[in-house]
Amino acid sequence: MKLTLISAVAALLALLAGSAWAAGDAERGKGFYAVCAICHGPNGEGMQEMNAPALAGREEWYLIRQIQNFKDGVRGTDPGDIYGLQMAPMAQVLPDRQTIEDVAAYLASLEE
Ligand code: HEC
Repeated sequence: MKLTLISAVAALLALLAGSAWAAGDAERGKGFYAVCAICHGPNGEGMQEMNAPALAGREEWYLIRQIQNFKDGVRGTDPGDIYGLQMAPMAQVLPDRQTIEDVAAYLASLEE
């Protein structure tokens, strides 16, 4: 009985620790967004003259996937993909997965 309770608490703690790590840190992401703002706008509103879409208020999971795709060369590598080619090198500015998640959390938190 006692053991069951202890392992249940341990499992719960592990779950909480896991989700805390997985969640993006919007405050940290804000700092990294500065370079993105040149094309996507200071509030993530997008800029048609730069062909850069709005990112504010978009789904966090979608942003993470797209940024990772650019970074991994899944998106924005075809010579005919002019706008994708402009974006792809920008994804390299974000050093790792955690930073991508932080920037996505920041963008998702902005007013659409
Ligand atoms: C030089 C201008 C430029 C900069 C700087 C830039 N982007 Fe982009 N971004 C673009 C363009 C252009 C597109 C549209 C690509 C396309 O049409 O496929 C784009 C597309 C995207 C998309 C895909 C949106 C969608 O709906 O699929 C995401 C996400 C994104 N950018 C995030 C970022 C982040 C994060 C940064 C900063 C690390 C950044 N961008 C910096 C130009 C830029």
